[in-house]
Amino acid sequence: MCGIVGYLGKKDGIKSVLLGLKELEYRGYDSAGIAAIDIEGILIDKKVGRVSKLEKSLKKSSNKYSLAIGHTRWATHGKPTEANAHPHFNTSKNIFVVHNGIIENYQEIKDLLIKNGYKFESETDTEVVPHLIDYYYNKTNNLEKAFELTIKDLQGAYAIEMISTLSPRNIYIARLGSPLVIGNKNKEYFIASDPTAIIEQTNKVRFLEDYDIAIVSDKGLKVKNLRSNKDSKSNFELLEYVSEESSLGKFPNFMLKEIHDIPKTIETALKGRINVSKGTVKLGGLDSVIKQLEHIDRIIIIACGTSYYAGLVGEYLIEEIAGIPTEVQLASEFKYRNEPISRSTVVIAVSQSGETADTIAALKKVEEYGVLRLGVVNSIGSSIARMTDAGVYCHAGAEKAVASTKAFVAQTTVLALIALRLSKSKGLLNKKVIKELDKLPKLVEEILDSSDKIKTVANKYKNNKDFLYIGRGYNYPSALEGALKLKEISYIHAEGYAAGEMKHGPLALIDESFPTMAIATDSRLLDKVKSNIEEIKARKGPIITISTKGNRNISKLSDDNIFIPSTIEQLQPILVCVSLHLFSYYVAEGLGRDVDKPRNLAKSVTVE
Ligand code: AGP
Ligand code: GLU
Repeated sequence: MCGIVGYLGKKDGIKSVLLGLKELEYRGYDSAGIAAIDIEGILIDKKVGRVSKLEKSLKKSSNKYSLAIGHTRWATHGKPTEANAHPHFNTSKNIFVVHNGIIENYQEIKDLLIKNGYKFESETDTEVVPHLIDYYYNKTNNLEKAFELTIKDLQGAYAIEMISTLSPRNIYIARLGSPLVIGNKNKEYFIASDPTAIIEQTNKVRFLEDYDIAIVSDKGLKVKNLRSNKDSKSNFELLEYVSEESSLGKFPNFMLKEIHDIPKTIETALKGRINVSKGTVKLGGLDSVIKQLEHIDRIIIIACGTSYYAGLVGEYLIEEIAGIPTEVQLASEFKYRNEPISRSTVVIAVSQSGETADTIAALKKVEEYGVLRLGVVNSIGSSIARMTDAGVYCHAGAEKAVASTKAFVAQTTVLALIALRLSKSKGLLNKKVIKELDKLPKLVEEILDSSDKIKTVANKYKNNKDFLYIGRGYNYPSALEGALKLKEISYIHAEGYAAGEMKHGPLALIDESFPTMAIATDSRLLDKVKSNIEEIKARKGPIITISTKGNRNISKLSDDNIFIPSTIEQLQPILVCVSLHLFSYYVAEGLGRDVDKPRNLAKSVTVE
């Protein structure tokens, strides 16, 4: 979702900003734009569609602008059009603004500005910002003051960057609830909403905090926090950065590549953390809070989308292995609930990007409760990684396809490790889970080797309009995740259900044209799932099963079957979901969808 970049230095700002925008492309956006200032003058260019279109258009200009800002927009207010694309500007075209997020009180501000004679050219909430700066500048004749007064008036979530010919060697920035990072290399400054956008140019970075307002100039960086009203130190840190293989190699898109990365992903998530012969687990990220963890009596996992489903698997794992009451809540709901939370509760935020606005807001809600906040995060140095007290990184590497696959597997693996670490027993189950975790990469390889079979099934069903996914116990979350993945990338309506719930309503949907994907792997609940399948068959519903290799009885029950290798039920969601991810992938591929960038979606959802 939306991205911000900026450059101040002596070199080619356009080149630097385009480099950053390209790095942010995978997050999903609908238009892109740039504004630049130099002695040569002002440049402003916006295009609907890909950054490459903007790049092509910018090639016409031979000037090198040493001050530039850029944006990829994911429309919240107003359609994706050139007029709505950022940067936005005031009527005199001397103040240029890019913005991520939503200005919730924009209408109020717009009404006030219109009363004062201001004219608007876009449908966005953002456009009020340059006009309001202009309004305050006319009153104060001081751009810094005008920027600060404007920011103080805004409600909502934002990362804002402003440049102006009134002060042509400054970039003004502000953040509230939407990330911003400043990079530095000698006399050059790079600004971005995500460190990946600038990391190729420098790894010396300074993250802004909420309510920070900053000015980047040739003299350096000045940061002030509007809540504490104090200047804050502008200490830069060196970001640990592992260069990612971002090329597709032999794969046609990132989703397929990332599914094929899964064996490696599991190995990395387990590396140095499990000792199979001793049956022990070590998680360095929890060492500093391990004493506190001994006294907890409740865990709340907060997350969104696929991370929420990984959290659901985590709930089953933690309750069974560690015996601690656990619940999973959608971050967007948790934030607005009034429930009692005691200090012996731990909140675990699960997030691939570490920048999901709903999850950040949920974490902020418990800030004052004095509870321990842990993170299960993939993106190193992300907002959630930095705002939690401790946590365990997923180490899945960059995930670029909008649909999460390897990150789900890494999150589930890490949650299994957390369950084991929190367990006071070193019993048989713990040893079995550790042993089976160690085998998982090989078992996933087996599934990848059976891709052709999954593709054949996918092609048979790709023209269906609806799908049900059912599962029980550990595989109830797998059913939800399978359905979400199909919806996301193929645009086919799919619902995930607990198999036992079919008779309480969804069974009414079933007929010859409504297939069900039934997860019927070997487990304590298999007989119950079998009965649920029979109920669907009795209503003529086509059945695809996912079963454990060697269990011929299940394949006899179904129209089509996909096997997974045998493992304990506690870890089956990982193998089941790899199969379901491949199934969705091949359905979407068969339908000719843009698998990596599904319509209407963004990789990192930075608005609430
Ligand atoms: C997964 O395929 C989705 N694109 C989406 O549901 C995602 O998992 C969700 O937005 C949460 O993102 P996060 O893990 O980065 O917080
Ligand atoms: N709300 C702004 C708009 O719709 C910013 C969206 C974004 O974050 O890209 O233009």
